[in-house]
Amino acid sequence: MKAPTAATRVAGVIGRPVVHSLSPLIQNAWIDGAKLDAVYVAFSPSPDWVAPFINGCRGGPVAGLNVTLPFKAQALALADDATDRAWRAGAANLLLFGDDGGLMADNTDGVGLMAALAAQAPGFAARGRTVTVLGAGGAARGAAAALLEAGAGAVRLVNRTRAKAEEIADALGERISVFGWDQLPAAFDGAAALINSTSLGLEGGEPLELSLDGLPAHAVVMDMVYRPLRTPLLQAAAGAGHPVVDGLEMLIGQARPSFEALFGRAPPGDVDVRALALKALGMKA
Ligand code: ATR
Repeated sequence: MKAPTAATRVAGVIGRPVVHSLSPLIQNAWIDGAKLDAVYVAFSPSPDWVAPFINGCRGGPVAGLNVTLPFKAQALALADDATDRAWRAGAANLLLFGDDGGLMADNTDGVGLMAALAAQAPGFAARGRTVTVLGAGGAARGAAAALLEAGAGAVRLVNRTRAKAEEIADALGERISVFGWDQLPAAFDGAAALINSTSLGLEGGEPLELSLDGLPAHAVVMDMVYRPLRTPLLQAAAGAGHPVVDGLEMLIGQARPSFEALFGRAPPGDVDVRALALKALGMKA
């Protein structure tokens, strides 16, 4: 990477913790590949200073910021305006700062989700189908919004705290239904895809313990968790013959439109960011 100068365009990601984020690796690889005079860095302000930090980027010192956990909802609230997809997701993963001081929120996570499904489960089409989503946090709401936008006939949310799933149903409409973890057979019945949006199964965290019994044989199984890449859920699903989709593909899928918005051009096609990310995760490409 070329040393930054006074002319270098600065962008980044904000999250806490942010040290494990793969976004700097992915975005800087594309910046290098495209030979841009730009740099993409990670910021982790302490929670009380998130709003002053974001507001301090107004007016152009920073071109834009990706936003990761736990600041996505706050980022949307701080913006002056937002895209429809960010409003529907109830969260922003991308903030763009105008020279006039304006702050626009967007959300490319839904694009990432649909791109990951298209890349790794090309036989899946959302239109008219039923998709079951585990969880009812911000990631689940974003997934539900994107699936409905893609024409899904029904989205079933399975959550421990029923009220949180019901809030999403209230926000996104009648094609959403709510299930408890004790109702998995009903939630699986006829589903074309199962997507884990909880952090269960993350390395070093609580396991996701669930039986895939009752999930239709051809249903796609996707996990947003990508540490490890092949989560126990994906291993069990692959073992049972389901097409599987990993969370790294979704991360890269949201990074592409983010790069385009931050730097005004598509990422170069000849940089294998998946291989770089796999290496960083300690895996072979
Ligand atoms: P995100 O923005 O990544 O979705 P979140 O808003 O904290 O994060 O949501 C986490 C999701 O994981 C929630 O659906 C949560 O269930 P609750 O709404 O009942 O809290 C789910 N989750 C986390 N830990 C869980 C656990 N041990 N058992 C079941 N669900 C869990």
